[in-house]
Amino acid sequence: MARRALITGITGQDGSYLAEHLLDQGYDVWGLVRGQANPRVSRVRRLLQDVQLVRGDLLDQGSLISAVERVQPDEVYNLGAISFVPMSWEQAELTAEVTGMGVLRMLEAIRVCSGITASRTPGSGQIRFYQASSSEMFGQVRETPQNERTPFHPRSPYGVAKAYGHFLTQNYRESYGMFAVSGILFNHESPRRGAEFVTRKVTLGAARIKLGLATELRLGNLSARRDWGYAGDYVRAMRLMLQAPVPEDYVIGTGRTQSVRELVIAAFEAAQLDWERYVVADQALHRPAEVDLLCADPKKARVQLGWEPTVSFEELVAMMVEADLRLLSEGADPEQDSSWP
Ligand code: NAP
Ligand code: GDD
Repeated sequence: MARRALITGITGQDGSYLAEHLLDQGYDVWGLVRGQANPRVSRVRRLLQDVQLVRGDLLDQGSLISAVERVQPDEVYNLGAISFVPMSWEQAELTAEVTGMGVLRMLEAIRVCSGITASRTPGSGQIRFYQASSSEMFGQVRETPQNERTPFHPRSPYGVAKAYGHFLTQNYRESYGMFAVSGILFNHESPRRGAEFVTRKVTLGAARIKLGLATELRLGNLSARRDWGYAGDYVRAMRLMLQAPVPEDYVIGTGRTQSVRELVIAAFEAAQLDWERYVVADQALHRPAEVDLLCADPKKARVQLGWEPTVSFEELVAMMVEADLRLLSEGADPEQDSSWP
């Protein structure tokens, strides 16, 4: 029988790529969707027609228990979160509830539905759980590159909430013997990336300027460095982690790091524009506390999972600029979330 997966965050970037990947692998895929009239659900219905939808919200314990009871998953991928770092200062409590406590609620739903107690550990048919941990937990980094043993020093309410979810996942593994793992994923991007994140903001900005739809692009800290990879590569790692013989956490990244300035140069070059004529540095877009440098050491994933990224930074940026030029030329409005390449 086909394996059955339940994905939270199905309307997001990673949810869409993971759903496609699992469908390709022969899974029955279910996506958790929330809200009375969430406009992003129609996008999922259009792009991911073979995904079945179930209602639920990471803020609502009962809804998660009902979803697990209904779907009877073999694997649960918890990708749902408030994921935009600046928003986590504006709505710190909500971020803690969704991005942090949401992990507790999802783990509890699995534990309760599986009848797991401290004295009764799960059998072989147990539900496997993947938590979307983040390199943002490393924050003010203690060493470079960062690996599975690098200590955390989060710099945003988002990073703190992710650290809670990460340790809780570890704790449920140790307390109840659950197959619960975290992927510590570094930044990953794609043409489906939200327009608020810097890569997409830059590729959309360059495309708009190229097409005469804008005259400038305002950005914050150009010196911050990130390890940027392609989302389509990273969702493969999520599945591999749940197929491993023992539950362990893994760092996923490329091992290369670039500055926001280098990202801008690459994107404007791809659009054949001189970035210095259009990019305006805006102090108001700087963060209260910044993560200056992230760079992954993905050796464990390479050796134990056989995972490798296949798309380079340059290919990724060119892919995104090209997709945005096409989208805007067709008259789509990426800010409205109506379109998904
Ligand atoms: P994304 O595009 O922002 O998607 C976030 C998802 O969370 C959306 O589907 C959203 O659904 C859902 N969500 C928000 N609040 C929810 C709630 N209360 N209950 C249930 N679902 C809720 O994020 P992404 O880039 O795909 O990232 C996926 C996960 O990986 C996130 O947990 C993120 O923090 C983590 N992560 C991402 C990266 C990266 O570089 N992309 C790196 C490390 C970790 P709605 O449509 O209902 O709002
Ligand atoms: N968003 C944004 N907008 N970022 C800017 C801008 C701007 O105008 N100008 C400079 N930056 C800098 C930010 O200060 C940050 O240092 C860097 O660009 C990357 O910002 P984002 O793309 O917003 O991503 P992030 O690194 O904060 O968070 C993403 O990656 C995390 C993994 O490390 C998100 O996807 C998180 O959910 C994820 O956990």
